[in-house]
Amino acid sequence: MRVPRPEEAEAAYAICHEAFTNRPERREAWLATKRMDDFLCAWAGDELVATTETIPAGQHFGGRSVPMGAVASVAVRPDHRGRGLAPRLLGTAIEHMYERGLVLSTLHPATTRFYRSFGWEIGGQFGVRRVPASALAALPRGEPECLRPAADGDRELVRECYARAAPAIEGSIDRSEAFWAAWERDLDPPHRYLYVYDAGGRVDGYVTYEQLETGRQWGFALTVHELVAVDAEAMLTLWRHVGSHATMVDDVTVLAAPLDALALLLPEQVVQLVDANHWLTRVVDAQGAIAARGFPSAARGRVELELVDRLAPWNEHRFVLDVADGRGVLQRGGFGDVRLTINGFASLYTGWASAGTLRAAGLLAGADDDTRRALDTMFAGSPPHLFDDF
Ligand SMILES: CC(C)(COP(=O)(O)OP(=O)(O)OC[C@H]1O[C@@H](n2cnc3c(N)ncnc32)[C@H](O)[C@@H]1OP(=O)(O)O)[C@@H](O)C(=O)NCCC(=O)NCCS
Repeated sequence: MRVPRPEEAEAAYAICHEAFTNRPERREAWLATKRMDDFLCAWAGDELVATTETIPAGQHFGGRSVPMGAVASVAVRPDHRGRGLAPRLLGTAIEHMYERGLVLSTLHPATTRFYRSFGWEIGGQFGVRRVPASALAALPRGEPECLRPAADGDRELVRECYARAAPAIEGSIDRSEAFWAAWERDLDPPHRYLYVYDAGGRVDGYVTYEQLETGRQWGFALTVHELVAVDAEAMLTLWRHVGSHATMVDDVTVLAAPLDALALLLPEQVVQLVDANHWLTRVVDAQGAIAARGFPSAARGRVELELVDRLAPWNEHRFVLDVADGRGVLQRGGFGDVRLTINGFASLYTGWASAGTLRAAGLLAGADDDTRRALDTMFAGSPPHLFDDF
């Protein structure tokens, strides 16, 4: 098991291509953008037979960017499955993340049971929603004069817009170059569009969407991949723009984007959840993860915890958690009043699950009502959202 050399990229690609049925036309882009340094692979003799990838980035919690390893490309050649190769790769990947200061890890699971057994747990929803285009077309117009198709020179402005909006969105990725490269790669012609809300030389919002043929006599399907807006005017304008396709499109499919604010603007309750995948997070380094995130400035308190983590001995201790003035410290010691599994800690950390929910699921024990309320106040935030699919 080791990091592959650059000339072994083709062999790593072959494993992922077979496991995920990657589109052949994406091969060049895959080879051009994937960094073999982020991979950890296993060999049988001199044949590369299993891959994992950890893409360094950040993830926003409490308004701060927490160093995070985004795990992807977990794949084993079919004839080598069922022999514990992926578990060994993931165990080592966790150690490598710890050594590199990647205190959290997030992934999109094809199987939850598998990753759960290594400490990843539900961090938030990656939902697919559907909104009638006619409902978007009926929204107030916003400021259509600010709307225009993105030009090549707008890429930096779009990144800057995302950088302004993302810290306030719990769970959003603090995108590294690798993430932006994937984002660019996904703006594939012929039917992907990027429109920006131009507030006089500054981009205050943008939307990327894809128009897909339906095989019907006329019209097409439309999928919004990302809609980011720093204020209400930009958001309204962009959603209304999506609604302008209403003569051609019945329903707009929306991937991952938070729609909480849109739901408050639509005249009727027409946002329909059609698929509810969940992303998973692992707390790789509990002390580092607490030090790196932000906490609500009004939250103040102390809880004595005992963490249970069979894979990461550096986490399996009694700790005292102190939160005050927007920051947290987790120090070894205390009596371990509250017993929390590392899986439960992940769901609490992202704000996905309350202490009461964790207790109901058997992931947290020993906390009285006051202690549970204290934990909920510390980790309170808006529902966590992840735009990126990796
Ligand atoms: C999922 C995958 C990576 C597992 O790799 P592997 O090396 O064969 O793993 P093993 O079978 O040795 O797995 C160890 C454990 O995971 C479980 N597991 C393996 N595949 C699973 C699956 N598809 N669903 C649920 N559990 C699974 C095994 O039962 C085993 O648990 P046990 O030890 O308690 O019996 C491999 O099957 C694969 O490449 N699948 C196709 C690609 C894919 O789905 N990747 C995941 C993308 S998120």
